[in-house]
Amino acid sequence: MSLLDKINKKKVPQHVAIIMDGNGRWAKSKGLDRAKGHREGAVSVRKVVEAAIEAKVKYLTLYAFSTENWLRPTEEIDTLMELMVYFIAKETDDLIKNGVRLQCIGDIQRLPEKTRNALYNCVEQTSLGTNLTLVLALSYSSRWELTNAAKTIAAEVKNGVLDENSITEETISKYLTTKDMPEPDLLIRTGGDTRISNFLLWQAAYSELYFTDIFWPDFDAESLYTAILDFQKRERRFGKISEQLEKEKQ
Ligand code: IPE
Ligand code: IPE
Ligand code: MG
Repeated sequence: MSLLDKINKKKVPQHVAIIMDGNGRWAKSKGLDRAKGHREGAVSVRKVVEAAIEAKVKYLTLYAFSTENWLRPTEEIDTLMELMVYFIAKETDDLIKNGVRLQCIGDIQRLPEKTRNALYNCVEQTSLGTNLTLVLALSYSSRWELTNAAKTIAAEVKNGVLDENSITEETISKYLTTKDMPEPDLLIRTGGDTRISNFLLWQAAYSELYFTDIFWPDFDAESLYTAILDFQKRERRFGKISEQLEKEKQ
């Protein structure tokens, strides 16, 4: 029985978010340069997108470049930005064929024009996809996102669009870049580190966290299914106790 067959189709996480980490260390362990690690990482993206479709995951968010990653050496940033253009050009047709809709979250204005345009084109061309929404988090960080939300909310209170007493948790969610998406059910980090690195801090309040030592370029369909099977063994209590959940099920 394959791992995919073992997945309970009624309990598939609707939204899986992944911190794709370990490209550099993967390359180093093989005596290669970091750029090669990023290129292999792009191959994993392709594999994992296909695997997510097979498993009937509806949203896949990939942390591809953080606000803090702008601090990396210029040469590495350039490599990553060019790789993005190359990857999109190569993959757009297959994304359309596979019914994948691409979306981006993050400070897209900060990306080089070529990368930005490639992304916008792909978002437009794939807009009718209904099998999977693939969300690329680019120049993204939660603190950037929450700061922007706070600014917009403050401005709307000031000009009377919003009443401060009516602000709820749902209001905050609506001012985030993820406003039209469900919250991640499962958040995976590859590469062995066990931290969140400024990713979806608000949205992951009740996500199940899964950390694996596998470097991103080695992460494949089986690795994704292993994570989903682990997720399916867990009880999500959302503050309640088991007995309450049992009763609600009946
Ligand atoms: C993740 O791999 C990709 C990006 C952050 C762009 P890294 O480049 O962080 O790889 P390590 O963590 O140095 O191995
Ligand atoms: C997190 O990886 C960001 C992405 C995967 C895009 P990093 O490699 O940048 O994280 P830190 O710096 O080790 O926390
Ligand atoms: Mg890293």
